[in-house]
Amino acid sequence: MSHTVHTGRIWQDVVVFDGLQTLGTPQAVIVEGETIARIVPMAQLDSARYAHYQQMGSGGVMTPGLVDCHTHLVFGGHRADEFEARLEGVSYEEIARRGGGILSTVHATRQASEEELIESALPRLDALIADGVCTVEIKSGYGLSVAHEMKMLRVARRLGELRPVRVRTTLLGAHALPPEFANDSDGYVELVCREMIPEAARNGLADAVDVFCETIAFSVAQCERVFAAAQAHDLPIKSHAEQLSNLGGTASAARHGALSADHLEYLDGAGIEAMRQAGTVAVLLPGAFHTLRETRQPPIGALRQAGVPMAVATDANPGSSPLYQPTLMLNLACTLFRMTPTEALAGMTAQGARALGLTHTGRLASGLSADLCHWTIECPAQLAYAVQPGRLHQRLFRGELTHGH
Ligand code: NIG
Ligand code: FE
Repeated sequence: MSHTVHTGRIWQDVVVFDGLQTLGTPQAVIVEGETIARIVPMAQLDSARYAHYQQMGSGGVMTPGLVDCHTHLVFGGHRADEFEARLEGVSYEEIARRGGGILSTVHATRQASEEELIESALPRLDALIADGVCTVEIKSGYGLSVAHEMKMLRVARRLGELRPVRVRTTLLGAHALPPEFANDSDGYVELVCREMIPEAARNGLADAVDVFCETIAFSVAQCERVFAAAQAHDLPIKSHAEQLSNLGGTASAARHGALSADHLEYLDGAGIEAMRQAGTVAVLLPGAFHTLRETRQPPIGALRQAGVPMAVATDANPGSSPLYQPTLMLNLACTLFRMTPTEALAGMTAQGARALGLTHTGRLASGLSADLCHWTIECPAQLAYAVQPGRLHQRLFRGELTHGH
């Protein structure tokens, strides 16, 4: 058996979107092992030096591997019935108050074994990967007991072993009030702080801790208790905030140094200022906006003006965003939120990585992890402009070619 040993790979004449911007001239991209070695303008390429590298092709667009920084990919069941109810005029909040919504998925998730949860999540994960995702955050939050939340986090970790993708796990114990604590939300928050967070930390199951700060979920004061417990275990924090109303959850999360605040349709000036000061990333979720037929826009113009970094994610989940196509989110971010294609793409690369506290991926720059996507398009804006599967030509994860040849 013979095989060729390549010391590296090279793409020539590609348009490079580096995670923040499109570089001005055609570039060569050189990968050695698991790392991006160099990105160099074609005019300066010493091609003889790379003659023995594997020639991966020329033309097209290269972007960082996509980063989907907010998903709820692991869950049991589905909620097509609620989709229909909402179309008949019942609101998302009303469904939640009737004990459906998140709690309906909690019921189905508790019933499911780890194997069943893996089995049902894999096709969803595969859909993200096929659309260019190299890093995905996966939240718990449909278990709502110590055992079931740990089960969800173990499943999420396992998904990262079964597929060539980086999984970052987030404990979202404070997502909804489980039926056992129906009249004791403080008691449940106590459980999250005293047992869930320590247990996840002890077992290395969570990379961050998230909360749902909302009238149908937890108050600002309760979320702050969760933040304190997370920080006592050295876990970074995030928040679902200002999605359905303005409680001031974003400002509170930012003051606690949150990596990100997510949704933000009802965000006000004080929240934006707190984010700016803290460097908290605004994670925008146009899939949930679209699915819930929300009309209140997140304040994109003001966030942009304040220089708050903006990420874009799928929020993939069975209720508010059963949408598993990251490049569709680029389109929706532009069409619904009027982000620019450059902002949307940065939101799913460099800023998505920042929302997860990652510095070694999400950008195309020498020394970073060779997580990259080569697309058969002419300019990066086409990714947001057209919703068109089949454009991902090659995908590399940590230098390994997982898609194309
Ligand atoms: O990000 N906002 C809260 N949580 C999820 C929805 C979860 C669900 O409806 O199952 C979200 O939209
Ligand atoms: Fe969410």
